[in-house]
Amino acid sequence: MLRTSVLRLLGRTGASRLSLLEDFGPRYYGSGSLSARDDASDARAYFTTPIFYVNAAPHIGHLYSALLADALCRHRRLRSPSTAATRFSTGTDEHGLKIQQAAATAGLAPTELCDRVSEQFQQLFQEAGISCTDFIRTTEARHRVAVQQFWGALKSRGLLYKGLYEGWYCASDECFLPEAKVTWQSGPSGDSFPVSLESGHPVSWTKEENYIFRLSQFREPLQRWLRGNPQAITPEPFHHVVLQWLDEELPDLSVSRRSSHLHWGIPVPGDDSQTIYVWLDALVNYLTVIGYPNAEFKSWWPATSHIIGKDILKFHAIYWPAFLLGAGMSPPQRIYVHSHWTVCGQKMSKSLGNVVDPRTCLNRYTVDGFRYFLLRQGVPNWDCDYYDEKVVKLLNSELADALGGLLNRCAAKRINPSETYPAFCTNCFPSEPGLVGPSVRAQAEDYALVSAVATLPKQVADHYDNFQIYKALEAVSGCVRQTNGFVQRHAPWKLNWESPVDAPWLGTVLHVALECLRVFGTLLQPVTPSLADKLLSRLGVSASERSLGELYFLPRFYGHPCPFEGRRLGPETGVLFPKLDQSRTWVVKAHRT
Ligand code: MSP
Repeated sequence: MLRTSVLRLLGRTGASRLSLLEDFGPRYYGSGSLSARDDASDARAYFTTPIFYVNAAPHIGHLYSALLADALCRHRRLRSPSTAATRFSTGTDEHGLKIQQAAATAGLAPTELCDRVSEQFQQLFQEAGISCTDFIRTTEARHRVAVQQFWGALKSRGLLYKGLYEGWYCASDECFLPEAKVTWQSGPSGDSFPVSLESGHPVSWTKEENYIFRLSQFREPLQRWLRGNPQAITPEPFHHVVLQWLDEELPDLSVSRRSSHLHWGIPVPGDDSQTIYVWLDALVNYLTVIGYPNAEFKSWWPATSHIIGKDILKFHAIYWPAFLLGAGMSPPQRIYVHSHWTVCGQKMSKSLGNVVDPRTCLNRYTVDGFRYFLLRQGVPNWDCDYYDEKVVKLLNSELADALGGLLNRCAAKRINPSETYPAFCTNCFPSEPGLVGPSVRAQAEDYALVSAVATLPKQVADHYDNFQIYKALEAVSGCVRQTNGFVQRHAPWKLNWESPVDAPWLGTVLHVALECLRVFGTLLQPVTPSLADKLLSRLGVSASERSLGELYFLPRFYGHPCPFEGRRLGPETGVLFPKLDQSRTWVVKAHRT
């Protein structure tokens, strides 16, 4: 860093080749590649989604939660291709009053409802390419064992006591609420009823003897944990919010319900008259998956990244770490929080009839198209609004026109008749900018492009680390645009392969553009796996050349051999991404007010 700045002070004239390489990106073995040192690739990583309630069919918000986790996990695997080092779990949350009531309303036995809806989640995730290694259902026997063992760990440490709980309970959110978080709302017939201030869901008054967890003892340990781990909750504003919550009093928490009221759940060990609180039951899923209570779970815990929506932050950032500390374990390493999708400006809800069915979207926009849309448009810090025109516009402009068009411009037979990766000519594009000579053709903007694409993998990795996947995609899209500008500027279609003056430069232009496409294809794998596969296969990039560790961008520019030069491109398999017809892709009628 110091050396680079000194060289910058000295100016470009007479600067060594080393300084130029530093200016235009990392050196050869870092030119676009991420080394093992960058990402501690030998370490294990365990990613989780929340487990989904089975009271209703999945919607796009649920798919979004799973996609974020999928993209993070796939990106991690790209950094360290040993799949043994990553684990990725998802599943369904099947106990509790909410499910018990939903089954009763549907006239089904709870198991029937759970089987039906859990199957819908599994099918959706399979169709959407969610690459989970585990799918857990909380009604499985292994989970009951884990929850009861965990309960025993809390009990043996004196953290559970029996007491009278009196207060509001919200079955939809499965949570207890203090008086200050409840308001009265008028119904259609003029009567008023109590609802949760945060979610708007109805609440009811509960008074019963329960087991209570000594949550109040954990206020300071939680503050210490968060202050000592500023990256524990990402993005930062959510970390801040949790610390603010911890400034307030932290009352003890009721962790069981009377079985006569809640029978659909796991009984308290040794006391069948009580059922374990569904959130305690649900959170333990993260341990069940990795083998708890068997000691094998320790090889995955706490190397855990929980991906969650903002509505369940308190459960994951306060209750869960407190339970874990109470049971003698460490809190999870990272909690990534995202915001919600609204539809045409409104919260998605069955009663409003605006729930967007993710399977319809996957059919209409293709799996890769819809994955790209949700991850490119979804901003973790704020809610995002969904409507169909937005999907069509984005996919047509970024995938069909910009990326597909770029590939077509460089690989089509009319421009690249030999259908090979052409040679890069160092006389036309010397590694030192500003040189003049008869064969030098590269311009300042071309060096800017090389610099941007060389640093792109690191930039993308940083965005993934900060849970800003949309920014990673924005950065890739910006470079695609820049590469199209490069091709447009040099108009290879106006150059002639037969001319000894044109040919080396024509080959170089195509070589650079193909190298850029190789970087884009590699970096898009976590988000659009099939489209990236199609792109990389067309470029002739083999499966073993697709990891981030193998991504040596434009080695000829840096004075090294390029394994692709002269290689035949892969077979032509049609357009990369078919352009969508606005009128035929209607899922949600946009009736904005
Ligand atoms: N069962 C609990 C989680 C237990 S985890 C130990 C639960 N389930 S849920 O089905 O209601 O929500 C699952 C996830 O979907 C949550 O992360 C939630 O934030 C997310 N979403 C629900 N609606 C959403 C949107 N409209 N938009 C984005 N994500 C949304 O909570």
